[in-house]
Amino acid sequence: MVSGAPANDVDLECRRLVKRFGGLAAVDDVSFTIAEGSFFSILGPSGCGKTTLLRMIAGFQYPDEGDILIKGRSIVSVPPNRRPVNMVFQHLALFPMMNVAENIAYGLKRRGTPRSEIAPKVQAVLERVGLPDSGPMRVDRLSGGQKQRIAIARCLVLDPALLLLDEPLGALDLKLRERLKVELKELQSQVGTTFAYITHDQSEALVMSDHVAVMNEGRFVQVGTPQELYFDPQTAFVAGFVGDSNRWTGRVEDADTTGVKVVTADDLSLLGAPAGAGGLARGDRVEIFVRPESIILGHDATRLGAVDNRVRGRVENILFDGANSRVMVRDGASGHEIMVTLPQTGEFAALSRGQEVHLGWTLAQAKCFPAGDDAARAGAA
Ligand SMILES: Nc1ncnc2c1ncn2[C@@H]1O[C@H](COP(=O)(O)OP(=O)(O)OP(=O)(O)O)[C@@H](O)[C@H]1O
Ligand SMILES: [Mg+2]
Repeated sequence: MVSGAPANDVDLECRRLVKRFGGLAAVDDVSFTIAEGSFFSILGPSGCGKTTLLRMIAGFQYPDEGDILIKGRSIVSVPPNRRPVNMVFQHLALFPMMNVAENIAYGLKRRGTPRSEIAPKVQAVLERVGLPDSGPMRVDRLSGGQKQRIAIARCLVLDPALLLLDEPLGALDLKLRERLKVELKELQSQVGTTFAYITHDQSEALVMSDHVAVMNEGRFVQVGTPQELYFDPQTAFVAGFVGDSNRWTGRVEDADTTGVKVVTADDLSLLGAPAGAGGLARGDRVEIFVRPESIILGHDATRLGAVDNRVRGRVENILFDGANSRVMVRDGASGHEIMVTLPQTGEFAALSRGQEVHLGWTLAQAKCFPAGDDAARAGAA
């Protein structure tokens, strides 16, 4: 698992890492471990400290506090080129004057690998990344996705214990990113190298990773499997950052063992379940999250069954996107716009703007977090 694992199963361990720039703690007391052969992602908004963290692991930046261990040994005083770690950058730097094979061979030559071993190693890694015939090609003839695979091949050929990837798909168009995230996951499981991958794209992190750390303002807010983060977020920040949600703010009117009754800022009365650490009491300010796919949509109220929360509204907009289609419904009472996943049954194929619909969801699907919880955790409140 993520912490406290025995050292021999752990490729990387960071202990209480801190990096300050002036008064700002870009990385603020971060501890975690990555198990050997796993795909670990660090997911967080721009500026939260992801690159700074990776640069410390690679050795390009020296931590102010804390320790970094690879296979149980501290590497903080080992220079970058002597660490069993390689880094793939967001803005990759292939050498334009060299062909693909020369680009990949570069690191091996610098390391003094015998000439006779270089060509077979280069060919083997090109096959691993699915570009076996590209060796003689000029780098500027490659597509963006091919360049990215060559950049990864150039690191893999050095056989690192740990590959660090800093938003390697960030510069590519959406379609290509969609394809490469599947390829990259397959590649990682084939080669078995440990990957530490940073991204601000939650879909990339969820699709590829064994474990994901959600990072905000220099800290790890939650570490877990993609499913744990999605279904059991521990803070409002994670609930809001991972996956889509409908969101309300409100105040607890009543609390008992079955759940809480909340009145939202726009005067909707909801039943919800306390989420995260600590309970909720009458009078507490809360943020409520309901996923669009957990809302039942009906032409009338009979469809909803025994749900705890019901809303009647009008279709404001239909966002057709094949299997990911959604409808925006304006709640007639509160005026709140609610996003609902459109069922794939065809029952709502003729749904049109302005039509009245009924919505319902259970108490368990309305997760209530104390408002300002994340700020309090980050010590910024
Ligand atoms: N060399 C530096 N000197 C001063 N401040 C820095 C330096 N490097 C990073 N920072 C600051 O540290 C914070 C974290 O930066 P970092 O690049 O690690 O964020 P990031 O999560 O990688 O963001 P992005 O997703 O935009 O790449 C930012 O506020 C940034 O301005
Ligand atoms: Mg960055």
